[in-house]
Amino acid sequence: MKIHLKPSKDLSSVSLLLVAAVKQKKGKNFSTQLNILDASLKKEIEAMECLASFDGNLGCTLSLSPNGKRVILMGLGESSDLTVEKLRRSFAKVFKSLRRSKNKDLSIDLHSFSGKFKELKTYETLLESLYLADYEYLKYKSDSKPSELVNVHFYSKNLKATQVKKSDDRIASICDSVNFCRDLVNEVPNVLHSEKYAKVIEEDVKKTLKGKGVTVKILNKAAIKKENMNLLLSVNGGSAYEPRLVHLTYIPKKKAKGHKHIALVGKGITFDTGGYSLKPSASMAGMKFDMGGSATVYSAFRAAVLTGSPHKLTCILAMTDNAVSSLATFPDAVFKGRSGKTVEILNTDAEGRLILADALDYACDQKPDAIIDAATLTGACLVAFGKEVCAIMGNDDKLVNQILKSAHNSDEYMWQLPIIEEYRQQIKSKIADIKNIGAPGKAGTPVAGAFLEEFIKNKISWAHLDIAGVCDSQNHLPYCPETGGSGLIVRTLCNYLS
Ligand code: BES
Ligand code: MN
Ligand code: ZN
Repeated sequence: MKIHLKPSKDLSSVSLLLVAAVKQKKGKNFSTQLNILDASLKKEIEAMECLASFDGNLGCTLSLSPNGKRVILMGLGESSDLTVEKLRRSFAKVFKSLRRSKNKDLSIDLHSFSGKFKELKTYETLLESLYLADYEYLKYKSDSKPSELVNVHFYSKNLKATQVKKSDDRIASICDSVNFCRDLVNEVPNVLHSEKYAKVIEEDVKKTLKGKGVTVKILNKAAIKKENMNLLLSVNGGSAYEPRLVHLTYIPKKKAKGHKHIALVGKGITFDTGGYSLKPSASMAGMKFDMGGSATVYSAFRAAVLTGSPHKLTCILAMTDNAVSSLATFPDAVFKGRSGKTVEILNTDAEGRLILADALDYACDQKPDAIIDAATLTGACLVAFGKEVCAIMGNDDKLVNQILKSAHNSDEYMWQLPIIEEYRQQIKSKIADIKNIGAPGKAGTPVAGAFLEEFIKNKISWAHLDIAGVCDSQNHLPYCPETGGSGLIVRTLCNYLS
């Protein structure tokens, strides 16, 4: 898909035009500016009877065919009720419906959409909506036909292509990274095992982040053993593949005043069978997405580097599958991880927190100002928040609030859960320092948070994002695919890192 910004003069060759219509409180049912059209076409449309039944409600469209052209009126509802997110969603819906409409070109009257917001903000929102809604995962479809829509033209009197170059580049970088995250989450586990996953990241860094100040270090099994990451190794016990710890560092060319060092840590379980605490079949299918935390933090790191973040960034991805074999870890096992704490593993299906424990301890040694981890950590998060809301918890409310603000700026839902003393008590073990599960069916998400907190050293600010619900789509957002990787939270984290 190519996007063009054009002056709003010559519309003669336009075949499919999208114009926004705003609902009115009194008098006429809606108003739209058809001024962009030539006078005769405008007159022809205004005389159409079907206009009377169109009220400009948000999400309603009216398709007109004056003089062999196609003009679609898209309702925005009342101007005072419009939000950026409503615009992003409703535009994505219309765009998706047009993708298979046998049109090569879609033209948009930008000005008609920008009643409430500045034209540049409107342009950025529509651009973002386009890039995100355009994504499809077709890799394994033999008969896939790419979208027939190849050109999107924005017509504007006020904006010029040269003026919006910065916005174009920024939005394209962020959305490309969101879509990269979706690709990673969608990739199948027989292809994306830990050894391959590390290579895919390394190759993407070399290809996409070349010359931007990023270095890659990959720890193989021997190096992971040397680091005493025995909790990561315990999860890897049943695997046919070596574990990997990917360690990326970004040093900005221009360090802004007050720049920080932020470390991102991600759970990269390429498939979660549960191990000996085996998942029932119905819960196991879909667990290729259990590397979603690592895909999310890497993609946010990628977007932040591409958009020139002023902060030093460290990104740590812990990778293995959680498989069953005679070498897999038994429930009741005790391991001493990198931090020196001993952990009684009472449930091998609570594996995410084990690999994160070693990765967080390693991250602390990089001496960052703050650590943010993301993981598809608990089924309980889905019970609490469904597919819609990401859970956040941490040891520093200032950091948590900053991330909540970024989520708000990005129109992504996030809500804080508490880590209280009682939850910390739940993970005390009778025979080791801590155990990897709390009381069954009780506060599963923040208890997992309390477990992770044990591995934060030196009072470093830390926040944990449980993305178990939001990581893959269930047809709930028009700018996300119906199923598969959603790419949600990448925009929030990129906003925070920039
Ligand atoms: N990857 C799962 C979490 C998960 C489960 C995400 C279902 C999305 C849907 C995680 O490794 C896991 O299995 N967690 C257990 C923890 C429990 C054993 C304490 C869970 O949530 O059941
Ligand atoms: Mn598990
Ligand atoms: Zn898992």
